[in-house]
Amino acid sequence: MQHKIIAAVAALTATMSFTALAQTTPEDAHDYRVAVMTALRGHIGAASMIARGLVSNDGHLVGHAKGLDSAANELHRVFQEGSAVVESEALPAIWDDADGFAAAIAAMTEATAAFVEAAEGGDGQAIGAAFRNVGMSCRGCHDDYRVQN
Ligand code: HEC
Repeated sequence: MQHKIIAAVAALTATMSFTALAQTTPEDAHDYRVAVMTALRGHIGAASMIARGLVSNDGHLVGHAKGLDSAANELHRVFQEGSAVVESEALPAIWDDADGFAAAIAAMTEATAAFVEAAEGGDGQAIGAAFRNVGMSCRGCHDDYRVQN
């Protein structure tokens, strides 16, 4: 896996061009979305262990909070219409209920921005509360817009 990724990065840097890309394929749009979601899962998992005191903070909670915030701010562009390809868990409501979906994204970006602030502030209670809001914003969207497993 690691080797494959390194090879892909090497191939990419060899061919990378900063001219406009062609329209993203539905498959690539889906894979990219899953990669962003996986980043969210990684950061929230790490942040949760620090917030619960299982791992020392050493200043790294802010980094995970910023990682969540950065991915959250990308959500508006990772749901390309037509990208609910075969194995996708994206529900049609994402595109049928654009306003509701935009609100779910806004809830996430507000929660992650507040979490960055709390992490920077360093108050344990504020961090816990802000962290819970981030988790609720993930669930809030998944409940309505992702296939339930
Ligand atoms: C605005 C909606 C929305 C928000 C907010 C959101 N998700 Fe998702 N998430 C989705 C949808 C829709 C899918 C299914 C995507 C697909 O399969 O095409 C998904 C899929 C996932 C997956 C599965 C990826 C895979 O391997 O297939 C993970 C993990 C995930 N989300 C984690 C999170 C976490 C953690 C958060 C909060 C920090 C979060 N998501 C916030 C909509 C959202």
